[in-house]
Amino acid sequence: MTTFRLNGLVVTPDAEPDTPLLWVIRDQPGLTGTKFGCGIGMCGVCTVHLGGKAIRSCITPLSAVAGADVVTIEGLDPANNHPLQRAWLSLQVPQCGYCQSGQIMQAADLLTRFPNPTDQDIDAVMAGNLCRCMTYPRIRAAIHLAAKTMKAKA
Ligand code: FES
Ligand code: FES
Repeated sequence: MTTFRLNGLVVTPDAEPDTPLLWVIRDQPGLTGTKFGCGIGMCGVCTVHLGGKAIRSCITPLSAVAGADVVTIEGLDPANNHPLQRAWLSLQVPQCGYCQSGQIMQAADLLTRFPNPTDQDIDAVMAGNLCRCMTYPRIRAAIHLAAKTMKAKA
């Protein structure tokens, strides 16, 4: 049995150690904000945080998160009011929406490393998060907006 913290709560899922974290997150606590896309680490829709860093949950076995902190889109902000979430709403970033929780989780990791990101920083860090609806210009604008909000609050 593997025990870890999921959005701050200690969980011990009933799953084999090699079960992809994505299935554990979606199937047992029912946190379906994290999506399945390629299943091979190439699209980013399954992005969550492990110890504060963005990872692809589809290729992360449950055993790899033993004792660690995992945060999903549902746990990014207790009130769903993270500056990125507000910026996403304000600029109406999503189209179909499928990729967007992964985009926001990747962007949250980006802002911890680049509090004032350039377009190049954003493009480099977000390159692995694909969007079939081509919302890339709005994603970039929303990341700049969130960075500005976070800077004003600091
Ligand atoms: S589903 Fe995990 S990277 Fe595509
Ligand atoms: S908003 Fe549709 S895939 Fe990104």
